[in-house]
Amino acid sequence: RGDPRLQGISKAIRVVPDFPIPGIMFQDITTLLLDHKAFKDTVDIFVDRYRDMGISVVAGIEARGFVFGPSIALAIGAKFVPLRKPNKLPGEVISEAYVLEYGTDRLEMHVGAIEPGERALVIDDLVATGGTLSAAVRLLERMGAEVVECACVVGLPEGQRRLDGKPLYILVEPR
Ligand code: PRP
Repeated sequence: RGDPRLQGISKAIRVVPDFPIPGIMFQDITTLLLDHKAFKDTVDIFVDRYRDMGISVVAGIEARGFVFGPSIALAIGAKFVPLRKPNKLPGEVISEAYVLEYGTDRLEMHVGAIEPGERALVIDDLVATGGTLSAAVRLLERMGAEVVECACVVGLPEGQRRLDGKPLYILVEPR
């Protein structure tokens, strides 16, 4: 928490009021990606945390988990597995539904992407209710993986609520 890099990361995330709908303060990580130091600090902090934890799978959530996940996977010697929105993956998939404010959505993962017993990290840009992360955890656990932790760049600590006690590591809170 006392890491001086976190302030720079927080400031590099643009807050866009009333996007995509009135009342939402959108946390826009595209401006973080434009700031080389803040982007590199973000990846470095995750890499330092997960380097020696025996993690062989980094699972990234579509879409913005794909921005951070592969760099972390390459640096810690893990593979990258994309968890995608419905009907995007061409192979055999397993699927998990999650609740949105209005309706439900699904995440899918390729069967055969991981072996039972592999240690996995789930990465996304942001956690709000935790519904998306919890669907990701269920997918990995159904394939026999051990989910070591979920990690997000931005999040309210309440995001933990729907994670059933699964550890959640957040760099900064929304502004
Ligand atoms: C956002 C965000 C997370 C999710 C978090 O994705 O990138 O994936 O919402 O919300 P939750 O904790 O309440 O589940 P979004 O649904 O906007 O999809 P996108 O990345 O495809 O734009």
